[in-house]
Amino acid sequence: MYFHIPFCDTVCYYCACNKIITRNRAHAEPYLENLFKEVVLQAALFDNKRIVNQLHWGGGTPTFLDCGQMSRPMAVTRQHFNLKDDDSGEYSIEIDPRATDDQTIRQLRELGFNRISLGVQDFDPAVQQAVNRIQSEAQTFAVLEAARKHGFRSTSIDLIYGLSLQTVASFG
Ligand SMILES: C[S@@+](CC[C@H](N)C(=O)[O-])C[C@H]1O[C@@H](n2cnc3c(N)ncnc32)[C@H](O)[C@@H]1O
Ligand code: SF4
Repeated sequence: MYFHIPFCDTVCYYCACNKIITRNRAHAEPYLENLFKEVVLQAALFDNKRIVNQLHWGGGTPTFLDCGQMSRPMAVTRQHFNLKDDDSGEYSIEIDPRATDDQTIRQLRELGFNRISLGVQDFDPAVQQAVNRIQSEAQTFAVLEAARKHGFRSTSIDLIYGLSLQTVASFG
């Protein structure tokens, strides 16, 4: 199952994802309400004995949702689909380290996610400035460490080559 959470609070200039840029968290509410209706409609099409082996939240930025908002899609999905509860599924989420702290990582793990991917792109400050995505190494690695601490069994980072000002040497 794939869930698309299309909101981000700032825009990265290279981005080709399907997204809505807003700082207003309330904009997520009507989207979530429609998402829940869609979950119910889709569930009616499937044999509910079928197990959900793989589940993924992407975006946009799923961690745009606040703590309360984040727990509801998983609860509705559990209500209508047969999610694994022994942590043996591959339940993954894309997160933005600029918008994620230790508490959020812990909550995501409690919700049942066990794989996490962090948006990075490049650590070069000049490149970050050029693409409007300022993100320190310390911030990124703190989130990576939190993911390991809270028991995520797969961690990965997204990098992009081809951004403004990058060279082969700087990217290396
Ligand atoms: C949904 S974002 C990841 C989560 C979060 N929104 C973030 O940026 O940290 C998915 C990934 O798509 C990649 N991406 C976005 N636009 C791209 C493009 N034009 N070409 C290649 N990769 C792109 C980036 O590496 C980005 O981290
Ligand atoms: S935060 Fe992620 S989805 Fe949003 S604009 Fe940046 S790369 Fe795209």
